Amino acid sequence: MRRIIHLSDLHFGADEPAIAEGLLRDIERQSAHMLVVSGDLTQRARSSQFADAERFLKHIALPQIVVPGNHDIPLFNAIARWLTPLDNYRRFINRELEPTFADAELAVAGINTARSNTWKDGRISPHQVERLRQYFTAQPDAACKILVAHHPFIPPAKDLSAALVDGGPAALRILEACGCHLILAGHLHLAYSGDVRPHHIEVKRSILVIQAGTAISHRRRDEANAYNVLTIDGPTLSLEVRTWNGHEFIGATPKCFTQTEEGWIAQ
Ligand SMILES: [Fe+2]
Ligand SMILES: [Fe+2]
Repeated sequence: MRRIIHLSDLHFGADEPAIAEGLLRDIERQSAHMLVVSGDLTQRARSSQFADAERFLKHIALPQIVVPGNHDIPLFNAIARWLTPLDNYRRFINRELEPTFADAELAVAGINTARSNTWKDGRISPHQVERLRQYFTAQPDAACKILVAHHPFIPPAKDLSAALVDGGPAALRILEACGCHLILAGHLHLAYSGDVRPHHIEVKRSILVIQAGTAISHRRRDEANAYNVLTIDGPTLSLEVRTWNGHEFIGATPKCFTQTEEGWIAQ
């Protein structure tokens, strides 16, 4: 059994410090095995904002897979945006933009979907897909294979026209071939989950997508601040969305999924 904390869209610089403190307290209580952060650590990629993000992450004593988001590239400093877009990210968070983590039960790969040449959209390139293919095919079949990205592969039910990651369909065809089970992402500041197949009819194998809301920022989209706790035990996955009620994070009834021959089945 493995328990994963999935945070997204921290947006230091647009964060609410009381919620950040409450989040650290709540994470302590989860007995988790690892932390995933699916991008947008900062609001404007400033050094001071990355320093706050670094301090926050240092409080969480778990293996961490963190990827950048579009807000982690400078927006107004054109020289930095084009010449050194993720220098601050590398300096404060991780030199590696696409980290991996594996143990006896998990194989987790992060990818960077943030780009300097788009305002807020993201992209996954053929080169990145090939790296993922090599990584996942080298992992044992028994491991739960998880991709972490900032930009979403499926839209939320409330906005089916939401922009998805560019290159997503081509990536999914390779991800299904190399046995990827799960994609964790963010960007839209909405917590939702679902199978990729209804949105990508060319994909035949079930891959479950889990999106996290904004954990601690005031950039809410008609939803409370939230984060996800995933418990993966063999073929079963329980997803608990924990939301901020103004005083503390509280859990809703977990959603349970089971992997079967037909794919992920929601209980
Ligand atoms: Fe965001
Ligand atoms: Fe974003």
